[in-house]
Amino acid sequence: MMKRLVLVLGLLSIAAVSAAAVTTAPKDPGPEIIRLKMGDMELPFQHWKHQKSLNQECYHCHNTKIGKIDRWGKDTAHKVCIACHELEDKGPTTCLQCHPKKTKS
Ligand code: HEC
Ligand code: HEC
Ligand code: HEC
Repeated sequence: MMKRLVLVLGLLSIAAVSAAAVTTAPKDPGPEIIRLKMGDMELPFQHWKHQKSLNQECYHCHNTKIGKIDRWGKDTAHKVCIACHELEDKGPTTCLQCHPKKTKS
């Protein structure tokens, strides 16, 4: 409970600082869909759809600079993705929703 609160507060303060830094100027929106690698599976992440529903506020995931995300990987992904889905009560929050069981063929 406490851990979650601290995380949320942390995200909010990052957002407040970055809101000023990320403004105007046309930006490279990156790929529409990013195939995030999770072991031998992939999660087709709807990059543009997220941009749209988050009001083009890149800082939710990109901090201050646009492009590859520093130390991107399991821990960063879980922190960024799950915290917002829990906060918004939208989007997947449980392991299996993002890591579906492999279908044997
Ligand atoms: C909900 C999260 C999220 C939001 C919001 C978001 N992005 Fe991304 N973006 C990602 C992820 C995840 C990656 C891949 C990170 C990596 O591989 O380091 C990425 C990668 C990128 C890349 C690099 C592509 C490459 O492979 O070089 C660009 C450019 C980019 N985003 C632009 C934007 C812009 C511009 C916005 C705002 C209009 C935005 N993104 C909003 C999650 C997001
Ligand atoms: C700042 C908030 C926020 C962040 C960060 C975020 N999401 Fe979401 N996500 C949403 C919302 C809101 C939805 C509900 C659908 C919509 O409105 O776009 C959603 C929906 C989804 C869905 C359901 C299918 C879809 O695209 O609609 C998946 C999968 C998903 N997110 C994956 C991710 C992953 C992976 C990350 C981290 C790279 C991430 N999200 C980061 C807000 C966020
Ligand atoms: C919102 C979607 C989401 C949820 C929920 C989620 N993960 Fe992940 N997970 C990811 C993404 C995205 C990556 C890969 C990030 C990257 O490197 O691009 C990842 C990477 C991983 C990895 C490392 C790659 C691999 O498959 O070996 C493991 C292990 C993992 N997650 C386990 C879990 C477990 C266990 C849970 C539940 C407690 C969980 N995840 C919940 C999105 C999610």
